[in-house]
Amino acid sequence: MKQVRLLIASNAGGSGKTTTALHVAYELARAGKKVTVVELDHNGSISAFTGLTDDLKPDQTLHKLWDNFDGNYPLEPFWSEYAPNLFVLRGGRWIERISREISTRGRGFYFLVDALEDHPLDVDVIIFDTPATLEPMGIPGYLAATHILCPIKPEIKDAEMVAQLITWTTEKNREFRLKQPPQILGFVPTRVDYSQSVHRDILGVDEKGQALEHPPEDCLPKIFEAIDLTLLPPVKQSAYYLSACRLKQPLPTLNARTAKNQDYRPIADLIESILNS
Ligand SMILES: Nc1ncnc2c1ncn2[C@@H]1O[C@H](COP(=O)(O)OP(=O)(O)O)[C@@H](O)[C@H]1O
Ligand SMILES: [Mg+2]
Repeated sequence: MKQVRLLIASNAGGSGKTTTALHVAYELARAGKKVTVVELDHNGSISAFTGLTDDLKPDQTLHKLWDNFDGNYPLEPFWSEYAPNLFVLRGGRWIERISREISTRGRGFYFLVDALEDHPLDVDVIIFDTPATLEPMGIPGYLAATHILCPIKPEIKDAEMVAQLITWTTEKNREFRLKQPPQILGFVPTRVDYSQSVHRDILGVDEKGQALEHPPEDCLPKIFEAIDLTLLPPVKQSAYYLSACRLKQPLPTLNARTAKNQDYRPIADLIESILNS
């Protein structure tokens, strides 16, 4: 069975990583795929976004995989009223011990690789949600991933992090001697607001989001073309994401207007095409 293991990573906070992880998972589940989101972050955003309770025992979290794992993944269904086959393996504050001990164990950074090899998870897609600080908890996700997707806000500071993130992946490939490193699926501009000139300049587009005839040389599409990386279609800024978050729902389920939101479809399509190839 083909399985895509997608690491959502960017070394910037608030770039929409968790929103992306959950909405890509939702779109894939709606399309009939079995999806598990693995929370490598201790901030517990996934509970806040999905309405899952917070009073977990360590064995109901990723922590279970850390000590003599028996292969019984503590998966929890979420958003089940909106899509089938959506599960989460939560991290939250329980992964603090893992992040403290990870570099002291021989195969600490490989704990996800080992768990998934010894006890394959019968799902089509695993999505790893990471904290903004990629080390240490991003590393086990990176080692276990087949692909990496990088949400990025089109703002100066975040755009400068593209190079840093690529450098980080190159360093990890060398450090861990990866023969088949995760493939960079692409960068996805998130929280894009075409009424902001800085967003337009960085993306090389006009107020309607159409590509300029003569875009600035340093805009992201030009840079990405030069280095042969994919810049995926943008996810636009919408206050409805905040409502979705408050109501613990996927944005496309909020109301008739938001039902039309297709922003995460292209990413789900891309993953489906990999699964079908
Ligand atoms: N496209 C968007 N439009 C508006 N708000 C968004 C969008 N994407 C994410 N947000 C909001 O921005 C905040 C940070 O998003 P989050 O997904 O938690 O980012 P990260 O996981 O990278 O820290 C959250 O309040 C979220 O609801
Ligand atoms: Mg997050």
